[in-house]
Amino acid sequence: MRTLPTIDHAELRRALGRFPTGVTVITTLDADGVFVGLTVNSFNSLSLDPPLVLWSLGTRSSTRRAFEDAGRFAVNILAEDQAAISQRFASSARNRFHGVDTHAGLGGTPLIDGCAAYIECRAQSMQVAGDHLLFIGRVERVRTAHRRPLVYVGGRYCSVGADAG
Ligand SMILES: Cc1cc2nc3c(=O)[nH]c(=O)nc-3n(C[C@H](O)[C@H](O)[C@H](O)COP(=O)(O)O)c2cc1C
Repeated sequence: MRTLPTIDHAELRRALGRFPTGVTVITTLDADGVFVGLTVNSFNSLSLDPPLVLWSLGTRSSTRRAFEDAGRFAVNILAEDQAAISQRFASSARNRFHGVDTHAGLGGTPLIDGCAAYIECRAQSMQVAGDHLLFIGRVERVRTAHRRPLVYVGGRYCSVGADAG
């Protein structure tokens, strides 16, 4: 049997850090109607027709149960002035939504005020892939604001040039 090459995890992280991404907070409601959300940069587009998007969630995330059960989620694409929101939703704060202004999306899913765009989805499929759970969502509603997006690269936040708004 062919043995797989050993990958240096630190080098893999460095290489992945060379790939700039946007920053999102993905939100849902748990079974009790409590707001749930976390910072995610694994979000990406998958298909335009039908409209599908994808993202992955660490299998050990405290939010896993809520996302598995909810059947829907919203992608809040953060604006360039929302790095503090990104940090908050990546933290272990008991209530990440405390002090964060939101409005209701489809099914009551919380949408964070002031984002660059919102993509509301039905969860179409989920599957375990390594140490993450891969979610594919079917887009139900989309809205874009005139705000430049927040960018994440090499473990730092930055923004894009003025033309990219
Ligand atoms: C910029 C950034 C991007 C992140 N992207 C992801 C992601 O795609 N998937 C994920 O599961 N966690 C991601 N995280 C980590 C989660 O936000 C964080 O681990 C989580 O909120 C911790 O709490 P939990 O146990 O509720 O998941 C990211 C964190 C940061 C700062």
